[in-house]
Amino acid sequence: MKFVLALDQGTTSSRAILFDSRGQVAGIVQREFPQHFPQAGWVEHDPEDIWKTQLAVAKSVLRKSKASAKDVVAIGITNQRETTVVWDRATGKPIHNAIVWQDRRTANICEELRRQKLDRTIQKKTGLILDAYFSGTKIKWILDNVKGARRKAEAGELAFGTIDSFLLWRLTDGRVHMTDATNASRTMLYNIKTQKWDRPLLAALDIPAAMLPEVRSCSEVYAETTHLGAAIPIAGMAGDQHAALFGQVCTKPGMVKNTYGTGCFMLMNTGTEPIVSKNKLLTTTAWKIGDKTHYALEGSIFIAGAVVQWLRDGLGIIKTSAEIEKLACQVPDTDGVMMVPAFAGLGAPHWDPYARGTIHGLTRGTTKAHLARAALESIAFQTADVVRAMEADSGIKLKQLRVDGGAAMNDLLMQFQSDLLGVDVVRPEVNETTALGAAYLAGLAVGFWKNQKEIGQQWQESARYKPKMKPATRRQLQTQWNRAVDRSGGWTVDS
Ligand code: G3P
Repeated sequence: MKFVLALDQGTTSSRAILFDSRGQVAGIVQREFPQHFPQAGWVEHDPEDIWKTQLAVAKSVLRKSKASAKDVVAIGITNQRETTVVWDRATGKPIHNAIVWQDRRTANICEELRRQKLDRTIQKKTGLILDAYFSGTKIKWILDNVKGARRKAEAGELAFGTIDSFLLWRLTDGRVHMTDATNASRTMLYNIKTQKWDRPLLAALDIPAAMLPEVRSCSEVYAETTHLGAAIPIAGMAGDQHAALFGQVCTKPGMVKNTYGTGCFMLMNTGTEPIVSKNKLLTTTAWKIGDKTHYALEGSIFIAGAVVQWLRDGLGIIKTSAEIEKLACQVPDTDGVMMVPAFAGLGAPHWDPYARGTIHGLTRGTTKAHLARAALESIAFQTADVVRAMEADSGIKLKQLRVDGGAAMNDLLMQFQSDLLGVDVVRPEVNETTALGAAYLAGLAVGFWKNQKEIGQQWQESARYKPKMKPATRRQLQTQWNRAVDRSGGWTVDS
């Protein structure tokens, strides 16, 4: 039996998933790794943790599935996007911890760029909203703050990469320094129309071009790795949300998916022309296959599953993430409690790096069950905000929402999501769509699957949630939510 191996390097865990030719999961191994919060609003990962856990789960999934490296026809890499690693080309060692996409430390650099009136230019060229979320200002911070880094970068001695690029470098023992068009589109340094690194933006951020990886398509053989015991081609790379769009087979313009991971990311395929957002969404490369680039509109929500993790690790009111549903089901509603999980500021469509998490409407009667329910509902409210912006930008009324990711298995959340949006919410049989998308991209490149049509036939619906809420209730909840969001805004600005 032959397989494609997907390496799914996420924000809180590294996963390895084996897929058979029917696109079914043949084996899966996941390992969480430490998160570092050196200061309020800062989030870091140790790149060595990322590498070690990713390699370990890859080996382990082969062992557990009783497969050997020879059974793997290709590897697809997919990853948390924007997270920034800078390493020394000679030693392969990172010169600083990875600065994670959620990290807000570069908000002041963004303000400076805004003062220089670069926000319009940035949106025009990169499709992105000027924000600390993206890699560009994170690279600049490392060059400005690590002793000797700028001199070395200028001399071509340092390499920058998002996680795909860092893993590819490690898997090929430093032979290959590449990224793909989707990950490049999240750096704020890449022109998504010309599909090239943008010299004026590099100059504005003072980033030497010598650090940057070569940008390739999402589906081609980049190199071979021997780290798993036999030579295996690495043949697919895409940022996790782009891979999920592909794995959900949202290949026609107007199709939308929402992935409920650490954050929550809604992408709409907009075809071969980028749409410039008027409602604070991002324009991004959906994927590049051969010479053809597809584009998407994206609404990025920074905290989704992470709020459940916070209830577990920060508050300790649940022991495992799975317990949240049972706890939340103990109460019929939140009894007026609203939680805005702006732990890392607010992303789309608010874009407020200074917003912070708030809980409203507490009374003596509030219990941990109400908090659990409010936490889950906050994920759905944030999604609804993005849906409205997306409908306004695209002129397309959402008919149904394809969902995936860990929290998409939560029935309470999915039913509330459908209630709030007033449309069907649909979950596919294979919920691991991020990894599946990466596997499809890799498998296409080596002929494991013939074409996109063959892949499209594998998508199967497994669950459907239909809206039940009265419109008046929906309106009332929405008003309460809007008020709560307003009160979370600008929290850290004057402190
Ligand atoms: O843009 C950040 C995103 O790629 C992170 O995804 O799945 O780790 O929440 P995830």
